[in-house]
Amino acid sequence: MAIITTDWTGTEYFPITDLAYVEFYTGNAKQVVHFYRTAFGFTPYAYAGPETGVFDKVSYVLKQNKIYFVFTTPLKSDHYASQWLKKHGDGVRDIAFHSEDAVFAYESCLSRDAESAYEPTRSGDDLGNYMKAGIKTYGDTIHSFVETKNYKGIWAPGFVELDMPEVNFDDPGLLLIDHIVGNVEEGKMNEWRDYYERVFGFTNFVVFDENDISTKYSSLKSRVMRSKNWKVKFPINEPASGLKKSQIEEYLDFNEGPGVQHIALLTDDIIKTITALRNNGVEFLFVPDSYYGELPSRVGQIQEDLNKIQDLGILVDRDEEGYLLQLFSKPVEDRPTLFFEIIQRKGSRGFGQGNFQALFESIEIEQEKRGNL
Ligand code: FE2
Repeated sequence: MAIITTDWTGTEYFPITDLAYVEFYTGNAKQVVHFYRTAFGFTPYAYAGPETGVFDKVSYVLKQNKIYFVFTTPLKSDHYASQWLKKHGDGVRDIAFHSEDAVFAYESCLSRDAESAYEPTRSGDDLGNYMKAGIKTYGDTIHSFVETKNYKGIWAPGFVELDMPEVNFDDPGLLLIDHIVGNVEEGKMNEWRDYYERVFGFTNFVVFDENDISTKYSSLKSRVMRSKNWKVKFPINEPASGLKKSQIEEYLDFNEGPGVQHIALLTDDIIKTITALRNNGVEFLFVPDSYYGELPSRVGQIQEDLNKIQDLGILVDRDEEGYLLQLFSKPVEDRPTLFFEIIQRKGSRGFGQGNFQALFESIEIEQEKRGNL
């Protein structure tokens, strides 16, 4: 059963206010930035590279409302990001938190057996001081704590405003990161649930098991962890056994280990958002027509026009608190690893449990095409 408990049962060892940014390692940030601008509607924000005195990598920061994505490409084969990319391909390296006191957050996590990714690092220029520290999580993914209260610059020392030629795109109006999902190996999900409970003091508020989500071929298990203020929600998936290879196993094979499976981006007008993203060329999972036949009986009355919902291929799910609308992109790299979810919440704080079945069936159609089912 999927269980949603709304009571806070965790322990807030240090305040988790919000995510600061997500950093991607990528083989060619210059071109990737073009994709996230014209397809996903991000705008240029900040840049660091040789022109700003940073010689071993380039980083582009893109912004859309409260979402900040950083795309980093190493410029040398001996840079750590080069090894990371060789193993995983393009993907998410760092899920970073805003922090009032980065050293305290880091030391607090280490005192509960988190592993250091890098020690507290202070950098500064004439605009002030910037402090960062990082701990490891699943796979080769890390969490940075970023303290900017004494820094007045646009992003961090070494960064300048990113100025790029204008491009045309439809504005999807994406607002913020709703949740970020990690895939871990079979049998490891509960260890990572324990990690987020122990290290961050998060609470486990949703549980899915094989009985909730399964097809003839594959199924998944998931535990959703959240911060006290609900701003941070991290589902952790592991594969469950099925007749053929599950989508989680396919991810683990192609990513060569655990990592971020999808980032869910929140909108307050999913019809506008999906229309814009489709116009911009973003590819979404195919939703079979049969899904819409049984939709009214499954979710009841919704405010949106059902014809538009079907034309745009949007999924709908309902729970005790309300409903949500969502849709999943195809993987955004050649390896079938990272993808995006677009989500609008109308009262529901769930994750679309009722849609996972429909989703699985359509993912399997895609897996079959790649010969991995
Ligand atoms: Fe999701």
